[in-house]
Amino acid sequence: MARINGNSALRFALTAILYFVYVISLAVNGRVVPLHPYLNGEEKPISNIFDTSKYGLFQVGNGLANTPQMGWNSWNYFGCKINEKVIRETADALISTGLAKLGYRYVNLDDCWSEVQRDSKGQLVPDSKTFPSGIKALADYVHSKGLKLGIYSDAGAFTCAVRPGSLFHESDDAKSFASWGVDYLKYDNCFNLGIEPEKRYPPMRDALNATGHTIFYSLCEWGVNDPALWADKVGNSWRTTNDINDSWASMTETADINDKWASYAGPGGWNDPDALEVGNGGMTYHEYRAHFSIWALMKSPLLVGCDVRNMTAETFEIISNEEVIAIHLGFKEGKFMHMGLMDAFNELFFGIVYDNWFLQVWAGPLSEQRMSVVLWNRCSKSGTITAKWGTLGLESSTSVSIKDLWKHAYVSQNSVSSFSARVDAHACEMYIFTPSTLSRSTY
Ligand code: GLA
Repeated sequence: MARINGNSALRFALTAILYFVYVISLAVNGRVVPLHPYLNGEEKPISNIFDTSKYGLFQVGNGLANTPQMGWNSWNYFGCKINEKVIRETADALISTGLAKLGYRYVNLDDCWSEVQRDSKGQLVPDSKTFPSGIKALADYVHSKGLKLGIYSDAGAFTCAVRPGSLFHESDDAKSFASWGVDYLKYDNCFNLGIEPEKRYPPMRDALNATGHTIFYSLCEWGVNDPALWADKVGNSWRTTNDINDSWASMTETADINDKWASYAGPGGWNDPDALEVGNGGMTYHEYRAHFSIWALMKSPLLVGCDVRNMTAETFEIISNEEVIAIHLGFKEGKFMHMGLMDAFNELFFGIVYDNWFLQVWAGPLSEQRMSVVLWNRCSKSGTITAKWGTLGLESSTSVSIKDLWKHAYVSQNSVSSFSARVDAHACEMYIFTPSTLSRSTY
């Protein structure tokens, strides 16, 4: 018996040592994995925090996209199951819910609006079963509500759902869109015949310009050739990522990829990490709130991707938060500055391996020295997140008043040096920071 006990004690001691070594190695690995470029330095030098150098080198210059586009897109919820009734009812719902007044004005058809073949004259034609009245009639209806109509095509032989693409038909198709009164084109990347995006996207820009009708040009080449580096002389926005889906993993990954290009976005041309999934059911209320807050802070297009005819009160509460929308639309005049991930902290939970370790501070500049700050808890349990003034480019003695944009209330009148908040798992808090020398009235 004593021997058995002795063996047990030895086994226990060995197990404890092995466990300790395992946990320490996890901790060490956890700290050295290069998870995000901005996480390498403890605090970045202030001059690098709001990097203005890359924005506005070119600019397409069609006068659109002074602020990132807002509206609705059919793909995330409806996929190919669209028809003119759904689109008309969506336009009606944008008006009746008040969303249109808040800025959601583009009603954007995605893939599957056209017949699978061009007509005998080589022209695109609307699907006769689902859009029997045609696109012109739909545009007229949408315009009669004070809204704008968007359409979709592809810089390839076919769209992703294998409808005719516009590659080598740019002029004809742009003329069709203009003659129908279309206000916006999303231009996809499927069946691209291996031709570089830099060669396939400008011809449609030129064709759209040649129509004389002003059409918002939204590039969707999924970030494959780093469009932030070249697309602002081509279009008004460019997708930076693959397709989002309605999950926390996809949403967070999409945000991180988009963040890399933050310093390239500004009035006239915006990074596009894809339409919103808020309201589609795959994430919790807090996850959707974080999704919306981060998209607003990154100045991403706010294109609602749910069925706005039947949304829940929670969905409406999220997408109608006027203070968060104001962050999305506000920017620093003259210069545009980096908005995105500023700081993050690894928190180690001994013995438990979390798939996501981050307690993050995201921030973006507003007019004068105001800034939007999001404390985003990407861990699976609640945590305290601290925004340090040094990280945000503020002098540590600066007194800052802090308004919580989800509670719609000031949470501090005079914070100095840092601000901390307890944030639930997968949730975020969003604030406007106003240095005491400034008035609070404008963004
Ligand atoms: C691609 C795009 C999506 C959507 C679909 C439509 O996957 O990236 O946003 O437009 O095609 O088929």
